[in-house]
Amino acid sequence: MSNLPEHIAIIMDGNGRWARQSSLPRSSGHQAGVKTIRQVVEHCARLRIGALTVYAFSSENWQRPEKEVSFLMELFVRALRSEVDKLHENNIAVRFIGELDVFPQALRDEIRTATEKTADNTGMRFNIAVNYGGRREMTRALTAVCSDVQKGILDSSEIDEQLITRYTWLADVPEPDLFIRTGGEQRLSNFLLWHLAYTELFFTNTLWPDFSVAELDEAIAHFTQRQRRFGQTGEQVEDKAHEIK
Ligand code: IPE
Ligand code: IPE
Ligand code: MG
Repeated sequence: MSNLPEHIAIIMDGNGRWARQSSLPRSSGHQAGVKTIRQVVEHCARLRIGALTVYAFSSENWQRPEKEVSFLMELFVRALRSEVDKLHENNIAVRFIGELDVFPQALRDEIRTATEKTADNTGMRFNIAVNYGGRREMTRALTAVCSDVQKGILDSSEIDEQLITRYTWLADVPEPDLFIRTGGEQRLSNFLLWHLAYTELFFTNTLWPDFSVAELDEAIAHFTQRQRRFGQTGEQVEDKAHEIK
C-alpha cells in the first residue's frame, strides 16, 4: 500500500459490551482488549507506521465504579510489565500522555520503567493516553504559555498555532492522519481535540476485543483512498500531485 498514514490514533472502545455479550464481567472485556492492542502495535510497527496513539483511560473514566477503575490500574501494571521487553525488542519507543501524577505508585513506576527503557528506540512511537483529556491538555498548554509570557521567556506576539502545539503532550509527533474508533460510537470523547483538526475519521461497530489486523488494514485502505484537501479544491490537490510526479 502506498500513502500509508504516518500517525494513527485509536479510541479502543467496546470492551464492556463485548464482555456483556458473553455474560462475563466487564473486566474480562478489558483483559481481552490487551491482546488486540498487542496485535495492532505489532502490525503498525511492521507496516513502519511512524506513530500510534491509543486512548486507554480518559480523565472522565474515573467516574466508573471503583472496582472497575482499580482493575484497570492493575491491568495496566501487569500489561506493561509483560509487554515492555517485546516492545523494546521491536525498537518501539513508548510514551504516556495525560496527567500521570495521580496514578498509584506501582503504575507510575511501570510507566517510568517502560518510558526510560525504550526512550532511545528509533522505531515506531507508541503513545498511550491515560488520564488524558483533550480539554485538560489545552488548559494546561494555555496555563504554561501564560506563565512563560509572565516570566518573560515568551513574548505574546510569538503565540501562534505551532507554538501552542509545542505546549501540548504530542508536541514532537506529526498530527494523526487516521483516527479509528471501535465500538460503534461516533464521538471523540475528549480525545486529542487539538490534533485531530484535519485527521481522517474511521468508525466501526466492531467491539475492541474483536478488532483485527484485517480490519486495521481495511481502515488504512480507506484512508489511502481519501483525498485530503485541507480547505483547497479537489483540482488544486490533483494539480499539486501531478507537479510532484
Ligand atoms: C473501552 O471500553 C475501555 C476503557 C474505557 C478503559 P469500554 O469499557 O468503554 O467498553 P463499553 O463502551 O462499555 O462497551
Ligand atoms: C473513551 O471511551 C475512552 C477510552 C476508550 C479510553 P468511553 O467509553 O469512556 O467513552 P464514552 O463515555 O462512551 O464517550
Ligand atoms: Mg465505552
